Amino acid sequence: MKLYRAENYEHMSRKGANIVSAQVIMKPDCTLGLATGSTPVGMYRQLISWYEKGDLDFSEVRSINLDEYVGLKPDDKNSYRYFMNDNLFDHVNIDKANTHVPNGMAGDIQAECDRYNGLLRQNGGIDMQVLGIGRNGHIGFNEPGDAFEKETCCIALTQSTLDANARYFDSVDAMPHKAITMGIKSIMQSKSILLLVSGENKAEALYNSFWGPVTPKVPASILQLHNNVTIVADDAAMALVDKKTGQPVR
Ligand code: F6R
Repeated sequence: MKLYRAENYEHMSRKGANIVSAQVIMKPDCTLGLATGSTPVGMYRQLISWYEKGDLDFSEVRSINLDEYVGLKPDDKNSYRYFMNDNLFDHVNIDKANTHVPNGMAGDIQAECDRYNGLLRQNGGIDMQVLGIGRNGHIGFNEPGDAFEKETCCIALTQSTLDANARYFDSVDAMPHKAITMGIKSIMQSKSILLLVSGENKAEALYNSFWGPVTPKVPASILQLHNNVTIVADDAAMALVDKKTGQPVR
């Protein structure tokens, strides 16, 4: 695992954008695995600005997102399809037909999961998977449990995730309680992984994931077994690692 320390959120976003840009420049027809949430917003903003300057070309890029809420239409402001269009796709020259987000409105959710697994197997899989991490250590919406979910599946969101994401909805009741998520096996099959971590409220999840045992109780801990993981974490997120190891880890 490679660890880049960033001073703050802006610095983390820029470093993350550097890494994604390098992937797009080295392989213009790459498949990016993308995440939503507050963590990658600054990185997407930076990528858009480099695209506007003419330094990046997304015309051949394909993307496959991690997850989507069950029951939200693509044009719902809280859906992850809307988020991706709004935070990245509408502002760069990616072909929308080459961008994929699970369909949370599918009548047959299992058939939708199977379709998504098919997509993941096509074209040689994901070149670079961008991840954020939940306060409970989730990646995608793979929540803590007794076993790692393998492939795309429909899961019930835990209270910790409902509490963390309720800020986007009018009320917790207005929030979907289920989501479709790419599974751990699919994430682990990505050729490289870029994990972005910012803020004090992620310090415990980061410490448990990489300085603790590999366990489905901390889903991100499985990333210890991947051979090409890059973490970009800011000082606030690294606080517990520093404290427990007694020195600033670089
Ligand atoms: C989003 C996703 C989630 C988030 C995680 C962190 O597509 O899969 O795992 O990365 O919940 O969310 P933020 O960045 O909002 O703290």
